[in-house]
This record gives sequence, structure tokens and C-alpha cells, in this order.
Amino acid sequence: MRLMLVVGARPQIIKSAPIIREAQKHDEIELQFVHTGQHYDFEMSKIFLDEMMLPEPLANLGVGSGTHAWQTGNMMVELEKTMIAHKPDVVMVPGDTNSTLAGAIVAAKLHLPVAHVEAGARSYDMGMPEEVNRRLTDHSSSLLFAPTKNCAKNLGLEGFPKKAVKVSGDSMYDALLQHASAASRNDILGKLGLRSEEYATLTLHRPENVDDSRILGRMVKAIMSLKLTTVFPVHPRTRQRLAENSLLARIQENAHIKLTDPLGYHEMLQLTKHSRMVFTDSGGLQKEAFWLHTPCVTLRERTEWIETTELHANVVVGSSPEKIRRAAARNTETSEIKTKLRKIKNPFGDGHASQRIISEILKSR
Ligand code: UD1
Repeated sequence: MRLMLVVGARPQIIKSAPIIREAQKHDEIELQFVHTGQHYDFEMSKIFLDEMMLPEPLANLGVGSGTHAWQTGNMMVELEKTMIAHKPDVVMVPGDTNSTLAGAIVAAKLHLPVAHVEAGARSYDMGMPEEVNRRLTDHSSSLLFAPTKNCAKNLGLEGFPKKAVKVSGDSMYDALLQHASAASRNDILGKLGLRSEEYATLTLHRPENVDDSRILGRMVKAIMSLKLTTVFPVHPRTRQRLAENSLLARIQENAHIKLTDPLGYHEMLQLTKHSRMVFTDSGGLQKEAFWLHTPCVTLRERTEWIETTELHANVVVGSSPEKIRRAAARNTETSEIKTKLRKIKNPFGDGHASQRIISEILKSR
């Protein structure tokens, strides 16, 4: 069976790694690993392939950055050529990026079965490009791997036949377990001069936050006002916006904020695990914080990971400085909170999602 796996952005590499490793155990699978080139900087892509010991992609389409239509359209043109040349039996697309959508549409139009990993997540906010991508991808797919029961329920509400939906668990959780011991060996805390539970971690990259200078400024200033040591690994898009709005210099001068380049997977896991709390607008980091028993403050109006908010491990605060400050104030009794979070049952599976996914793919032949 020729299984084509299409990735392009940082989180897709992470969620694909355990699936690739599982596929490699089966001689009957010929894995065709394709990278669209959506992310191209070393620290946005190659570092993850190296750390997760993944094979070189069969093809890197080198599409790069652009507007949504330009980027998705160019990926589609290149992916169509690639799929025609390599004749996959199934095309697998993880996550909710423009690369996910491009892979799904091209495969569906070539009448190839599409398997969506992380199907059924919904924020019910069509202002987020990821929500558009995940809905259209789900509706182009014939095999839908839902990471949680709630995601499967969302798909049921949209009329998907039960047979097409499999609750697999979350392959990002598999990745976290597989890399936990390597992550704990890295010295990011020492490198940044941090002490466990005495700092917070901040990430921001969503266009709805960073492309609006008013919102970006409000969030960053609210976090600076906490006077809590905060590590801020900056996504390239965010760095650009901060520089345009002369916020970059203010952050660099602030004694509490430690600005860094984007970090690798192991460093990020270690940083998150030892944080007092995480402030983020990332989808993946909300889940990683949950699995590492670190309280999360989500800097968005809505989240697709309501599993974490319903379990009170994550609070959605948007860009309101008042809500950010209140949420931060609730997270001061760090060890007590972490002990509570450790007792919560994980709704994202048992760390064997990738086995289930590959086994269903083989059955679908
Ligand atoms: C994409 C995904 C988002 C995911 C995120 C993870 C979409 C719509 N969004 O957002 O869901 O959470 O990846 O990081 O697919 N850039 C670089 N170097 C790179 C890549 C990007 O400098 O290697 C800069 C470029 O200026 C680019 C901007 O970042 O214009 C945005 O990159 P893009 O791939 O369009 O989307 P992300 O914001 O990374």
C-alpha cells in the first residue's frame, strides 16, 4: 500500500512523527512523505525532522509563504503533480493548516481516499483560517481519525456516517510520550537561567491576534504588567509584526520577558513542563500544557480543545488585560494546581493513536 503523508507546518511534523514510525514497522506500507515547504526556516521545520529522527521527505515542494489563496493554490498545483507521479493508494493529511487543506482537496479531486488525522476539532469560529481548513478537510475525507470522543460527536452533528469516523486518540500525545525522556534531558532551563515553576511561557502566532496591532499590543502589555519572568519564543510572523509596531524594542528592554527564537520540540516540552503557566494562542500547546500538568491561559476568543477547558485545566481569556491578569493570579499555587491536574483522566487517548490509525489504514484497503 502506498501511503502518502502530506505535511508542511511545524505542528504537522510533530503529530506525524509517531504515525511515520508506526508505518515504518509494516513492510506492506510504502510511505510517501511529502513536505509542501509551507514552513522552510530551519527552526520551523528541519529541526523537528532531526529531533524526531524522521526520514528526509520524498519531495519538498518548496511553496513557502504567501496569501492564503496563493499559498494553498501553489501547493495544490505541486501536490497534483506529486500525486499523479507517485500514485498513492491513500493520502493522509494531519491537522488544520493550508497544507492539510491543499492535500485533501487535490486527493479528493483525483478520487483518492483521504484520511484526516485530528478530524472533528471545532472552534465554531470561521474567522480562524484553521477552522475553515479543518471543516473543508473533514468534508473531503473518507476516513476521519478523531482524537477525542467530543471531536467524533462534532462530526456526527455534521452528518458523517459512523463507519467513517474512528476515535483514535491524539497522535500528538503519542509524540509527547515517545519524546518525554529525551525532552527531560535537555538543558533549556539552565540555558535561559530559569528555575522550575518560577516563570511562565508565552507563544503567539495566530493571525487574528498578531496581525491586529491593537490586540497584539494589549496582550503583550498585559503580560509585561504581571512582572513575572516569561519566556517568549517568537514565531517569525509575530517577530515581523512586533517589529512593525515598535513593540519588539519595548519587549527587549523589559526585564521580565525573555525573548528567544522558535525552540525545538524537546526544549519546548521541557520549558512547558516546568512553567508555572502557559499563555498561548496555539492549539497544540494547549494540549501539551494539559498533558504536562501545566495550567494554560488561552489568548483567543474560542478554542477547539474544549476538553481542556471543561476539565478546568485551561481558561480562554481572549485579549482582555483584566482576564489575563485574573487568570494569572489564579495560577500562583503552582504545586497544588499541578497535583490536581495530574489526577485528571486524559480524554486524548492512551498514547497508541498511531497504531490505531495505521491499523485502520491497512484495513481500509
Ligand atoms: C501555520 C498554520 C497554523 C499553525 C502554524 C504553526 C495555516 C493557515 N496556519 O501558521 O495553523 O498553527 O503554522 O506554526 O496553515 N515564516 C517564516 N519562516 C517560516 C515559515 C513562516 O519566516 O519557515 C513567516 C512568513 O513571514 C510567513 C508567516 O511566517 O508569511 C506565516 O507563515 P504561514 O505558513 O503562512 O502561517 P503560520 O502563521 O506559520
